[in-house]
Amino acid sequence: MKKTFLITGGAGFIGSSLIDRLIFYGEDINIVCVDNFDPFYSEKFKQNNICLHRRMHNYKLYVEDIIDFAVLKKIFQAHDITHIIHLAAKTGARASLEKAKDYFNTNINGTINLLQLAKEFGVEKFIFASSSSVYGARKDVPFKEDMKIGKTISPYAASKAAGEQICYTYSHLYGISTVCLRLFSVYGPRQRPDSAIHKFSRQIVEGKTLQVFGHGKTIRDYTYIDDINQGILAAIDYDKSEFEIFNIGESRPIKLSSLIVLLEENLEKKAILEKRLLQPGDVPITYADITKAKELLGYQPSTTIKRGVKKFIAWFKEFYNYCPSNLICR
Ligand SMILES: NC(=O)c1ccc[n+]([C@@H]2O[C@H](COP(=O)([O-])OP(=O)(O)OC[C@H]3O[C@@H](n4cnc5c(N)ncnc54)[C@H](O)[C@@H]3O)[C@@H](O)[C@H]2O)c1
Repeated sequence: MKKTFLITGGAGFIGSSLIDRLIFYGEDINIVCVDNFDPFYSEKFKQNNICLHRRMHNYKLYVEDIIDFAVLKKIFQAHDITHIIHLAAKTGARASLEKAKDYFNTNINGTINLLQLAKEFGVEKFIFASSSSVYGARKDVPFKEDMKIGKTISPYAASKAAGEQICYTYSHLYGISTVCLRLFSVYGPRQRPDSAIHKFSRQIVEGKTLQVFGHGKTIRDYTYIDDINQGILAAIDYDKSEFEIFNIGESRPIKLSSLIVLLEENLEKKAILEKRLLQPGDVPITYADITKAKELLGYQPSTTIKRGVKKFIAWFKEFYNYCPSNLICR
């Protein structure tokens, strides 16, 4: 049977990379992308992400806001949507402190709209992009899915924790097969310009000072985009229970100071550092226990940070040669 995937946030980093993988599956796949080109970062950057998708006959883009229930409903009426991969969100834990209400509105009310339509239109599968930030500032690592997650420390993290809770409620009440994926610091080609690896690379190349929060001692479980996509694709096929939460990380965390050294080596240029205190909303460590995803999804991440950064920098150099940075990542 023909599958029609609604990918929300499909013009963004993860969404557009996932569509690269899905769109070439063959004739049996249709992709409906809903993205409002949120101004958090440049529209041109996102247009660049999807320029090949737009040429495919089985791809349809709607530049719409997931907050608008009536518009979403019309999209559901126009397409026989079988799967929802809900990636649209206001992103960035630190940035969410400035605009908490907007983050809650998009990330919670937008998610409710999609779940409501999943129920009304009998969608087969709902995948929700959650985040490692739901674990809060805890230090008892690695993080396991059955840990309590009540102590989130940014509006973004709180909105993701709430999203998971609402997903569970809809799944329980209406039998919607749902998987929440807690993604851990995703990086790779097309990475958001505000994210550490991308932002620091640009600053090193431009000879600008890097503000290193937490004095470089924070630790992150950076996860390469191909491994994230592997986790999402496995979740689409998951059918062993009606609702499940999985960590999708690399489970090989590294210190920020070591990451910067790796970027310097790959860019063959020294970084200028300004060490600063940890910022409100920042957590000291993320570290995924991926036992559950390995067992139930067959998830096997395979990209070490060394190999992943090398691949990212190859993309980064080509991208900035082709698109001058003043056009995009500001
Ligand atoms: N990148 C990471 O490290 C990371 C980690 C954990 C979780 N996540 C989650 O994964 C998802 C994708 O993240 P990303 O890094 O690709 O971010 P991204 O910002 O590149 O992609 C999100 C997309 O959603 C769109 N969008 C935002 N608000 C919208 C709205 N109201 N209506 C329609 N579209 C809207 C944006 O325009 C953007 O294209 C998000 O839900 C994010 O919270 C990402």
